[in-house]
Amino acid sequence: MPRPAVREVARDAGAARRRPLVSGNWKMHHDHLQAIRSVQDLGLRLGAADVASLDVSVHPPFTDLRSVQTVLEDRGIPVALGAQHCFSEDAGAYTGEVAPPMLARLGVSYVLVGHSERRQFFGQTDEQVAATLRAVLRHAMTPIVCVGETQEEREEGETEERLTAQIIAALAGLPAEQVAGLVVAYEPIWAIGTGQTATAEDAQTACAHIRGVVAGLAGDDAAGALRIQYGGSVRPDNAAELVGQADVDGALVGGASLEAATFAAIIQAAATVAAGR
Ligand code: PGA
Repeated sequence: MPRPAVREVARDAGAARRRPLVSGNWKMHHDHLQAIRSVQDLGLRLGAADVASLDVSVHPPFTDLRSVQTVLEDRGIPVALGAQHCFSEDAGAYTGEVAPPMLARLGVSYVLVGHSERRQFFGQTDEQVAATLRAVLRHAMTPIVCVGETQEEREEGETEERLTAQIIAALAGLPAEQVAGLVVAYEPIWAIGTGQTATAEDAQTACAHIRGVVAGLAGDDAAGALRIQYGGSVRPDNAAELVGQADVDGALVGGASLEAATFAAIIQAAATVAAGR
């Protein structure tokens, strides 16, 4: 397939329209009892002002989802339920997998698709990412499609090429209205769990590039509406600067989302920036 042209998308108007999303990816941490305590604590820390101009999601392990859903609903906590992964089929003989309609039934709103740890440790391919993304959309949930380059690719100057290839593989052929509603997470692999955060400038450059690739695939309107998170060692002290970039519409937070106090501080830092967009 010919590569679409990467275009510069009118950013300022778009940033004002896009509501940032701050997501906590708990990975393989917190059993359901710890998860209940963590979201209860988060609920006590978040005020209406914190979520007035941004969305928040938590992505616990599968075994915690039902418990977390109950706490969020019962207490009216303004946090959306997210999952970390699912399979691309709706049912069948796939031992160990979880189907998208099961997540939809639990009130899951966002599903991470193609996180680098799924790609690296579980062999998830670009084709599987594309199929899973479509399965999540079929069940009216929002995929958060993760893309990012390795340290080696960055050093070789291949960052943009890598991001272009991953975005095309995941999104090519999707109708523009669906693309507009997606979330992409730009997560440089060398920044995940390492304490080494991308500079705000590097995050902005990569996110603007991703938006340009999306514009080439689905048009400027869809690209201007799509939200792009930055992920990789986001903390309370760097969240505002990262989310303050024109093309960065929120954060995907791993380690720092496990403690409710730290995650709330990140949300609050992002909220001050989001309010001024
Ligand atoms: P980190 O993880 O914040 O611990 O770097 C981010 C992620 O993998 O989503």
